[in-house]
Amino acid sequence: MPASTVDIKFYLEKIKSLTDALLLRYLPSVDNEPKILHEAMKYSTLAGGKRLRPILAYSAFEYCGGNTDGDDLSIHYAMAALEMVHTYSLIHDDLPCMDDDDLRRGIPTCHKKFGTAAAVLAGDALHDVAFNLLASTGSTKVVVELAQALGTAGMIGGQMADVEAEGKDVTKADIINIHTRKTGALIKASVRIGAILAGASDSELEKLTRYSEKIGLAFQIIDDILDIEGDTETMGKPVGSDVGLGKATYPKAVGIEQAKADAQGLIDDAVVLVNEFDDNVLSELAKYIGQRNN
Ligand code: IPE
Ligand code: IPE
Ligand code: MG
Ligand code: MG
Ligand code: MG
Repeated sequence: MPASTVDIKFYLEKIKSLTDALLLRYLPSVDNEPKILHEAMKYSTLAGGKRLRPILAYSAFEYCGGNTDGDDLSIHYAMAALEMVHTYSLIHDDLPCMDDDDLRRGIPTCHKKFGTAAAVLAGDALHDVAFNLLASTGSTKVVVELAQALGTAGMIGGQMADVEAEGKDVTKADIINIHTRKTGALIKASVRIGAILAGASDSELEKLTRYSEKIGLAFQIIDDILDIEGDTETMGKPVGSDVGLGKATYPKAVGIEQAKADAQGLIDDAVVLVNEFDDNVLSELAKYIGQRNN
């Protein structure tokens, strides 16, 4: 296969900047009351982050022929909404009653800076702004998509299972189940929402769904590996948090070498699924997820 001419680094930077601009536009103004909540929402959302979910939505939208130059702002609303719900999930994930972490995106976590009550409420409020934005797309389908991905069958259910599995031995099947829900569901929804907004055919949507399931699971396996082998400064969050809490992780279930091999296998499968034409961003994004160090 010839080397790809997609400059993925440039692409990531470009869509990350677009996402940052959209977030700034759609977050409530810190000049408005309740100021502490608006500040907490902005603090955590604009602290940085890879912006992977909006990037996936945008590239799935493009892949399925969506028009990114037109007047239709739907994909922009969806991108901001996805990053807001993701940030809400991080704020709550870091709370003392959950993973009890003090550092996120290179700065003190939301509850460290603003207190627990403001952090809980800032997360709740980000969720609500996100659904308001998503409803502005006029597509009931994407609203349902995100609601189901976040709910008890998806992210929230996965987070509950993650907490319940602390300190226990887990099988590979258990951990796949947890990871698919706590992290995979939102990644899958991001890809699907981009595709749906572009008017993807059923077969295109089905293919991208399989792609997103592979990268979603790989993403959390790699997150678990980085918690062991990564570097706090590069990642902007504490290394060793999982071991400290006795978390059920993929390396704990299968060993670190097997975890690496399984993540790579999933990435390879994902690349094959979307590689029917050269130089496509989705296959480069899958490879990027496989190689990331933060
Ligand atoms: C961290 O997500 C939480 C997980 C689902 C593993 P990211 O690694 O995408 O975090 P940011 O958005 O780049 O900070
Ligand atoms: C977080 O998983 C998943 C969600 C936030 C839904 P982790 O707890 O492993 O994420 P990090 O490592 O704190 O970013
Ligand atoms: Mg967690
Ligand atoms: Mg955590
Ligand atoms: Mg982690």
